[in-house]
Amino acid sequence: MHIRQARGENLRLYQKFELQANPRLNLILGPNAAGKTSLLEGLYLLGRAKSFRTSESAEILGPYGSSWSLFAEVENEDQVDRLGVGWNGSEQEQRLNGEKARTSALPKTLALQLIDPVGHRLVEEGPGYRRSYLDWGVFHVEPSFYAAWQRYQRCLRQRNQALRQNLPKAAISAWDEELSVSAEQVSESRRRHAEALGQHLGEWVETLLGISDTRVEFLQGWSTDIGYRKLLEDQLPQHRRLGGTTQGPHRAELKLWLAGQRAKGRVSRGQQKLLVAALVLAQCAILIAAGKPPPVILIDDFGAELSLAYQQRFVRALNDYPGQIFITAFELPAVLQKLPLSMFHVEHGSLTKVEYE
Ligand SMILES: Nc1ncnc2c1ncn2[C@@H]1O[C@H](COP(=O)(O)OP(=O)(O)O)[C@@H](O)[C@H]1O
Ligand SMILES: [Mg+2]
Repeated sequence: MHIRQARGENLRLYQKFELQANPRLNLILGPNAAGKTSLLEGLYLLGRAKSFRTSESAEILGPYGSSWSLFAEVENEDQVDRLGVGWNGSEQEQRLNGEKARTSALPKTLALQLIDPVGHRLVEEGPGYRRSYLDWGVFHVEPSFYAAWQRYQRCLRQRNQALRQNLPKAAISAWDEELSVSAEQVSESRRRHAEALGQHLGEWVETLLGISDTRVEFLQGWSTDIGYRKLLEDQLPQHRRLGGTTQGPHRAELKLWLAGQRAKGRVSRGQQKLLVAALVLAQCAILIAAGKPPPVILIDDFGAELSLAYQQRFVRALNDYPGQIFITAFELPAVLQKLPLSMFHVEHGSLTKVEYE
């Protein structure tokens, strides 16, 4: 799977950009505020239907009109899909091969991962980041996951609303059956994926950080001693008092342990970045092992926070990656100099291909 071509209009500082991408390695160079991160944001939007910088579509809008749009041709084996996403000033819309499409059509067509300087949130901040990370992988490996997850979210919202309105027991418990079936399903899928991560992550952490003994611990969001259905019944008085369902898959957590210690709060910025890279590469390896095409990887500010030795480790890991990669940097990193790649220069929102020998 790779992006053959991408175009954008009125995305942040870009009036227009167009990119004919290399199926393997693409390097985007430019000074500060040139538009490097915005370009990756555009590609990310095409595979994720949302930005990694903001939840406000209006913030992405440039000064050249009242709408923004993005388009890509994605090649997968011998099939080419045309993906589009745009915002018309009030709504975001997705397109697949000329037809209006659901949000989930984008990640289904373009599996895409990001390693960026704020990626350390995945290691350092709340469990929500790790749940999204885990769910992206499950979404791609298990086709039934998305429907179960959506069902769970919907029932949870309804049950919480009934709790807040202090409705009679029957009106609250009416949601318990569907809620618990979907909760168990979501949890089982996540557990399988966390186990697979446990098998793959250690190797990547060893390659990237030189640390052995990596452990992944999955906490499903409620005690494993009890089924979710039973928990909902037992905890009803407490949920009523608190006005919400306080346990469940929405409270799941993925804990990472390196050499016997919790990674959170213990590793340096540079190590965090490489740990995020290891998490991304391990997850991509799981998808590949499941027969999926290698996801596209976006890497923003390649060298930031990494010593030369860490950059070398990073390049060694990326060198073996069978999929497409987009890397941004201020200038050509010495460790990338000999690799076959396509190079682009960006400045003041103008993107050009660099021809070189
Ligand atoms: N909605 C917007 N409209 C116009 N310009 C914007 C918008 N959002 C950000 N910018 C400008 O884009 C530039 C930042 O681009 P960015 O992609 O982050 O640069 P880089 O990653 O190369 O440092 C800043 O100069 C900023 O003012
Ligand atoms: Mg940037």
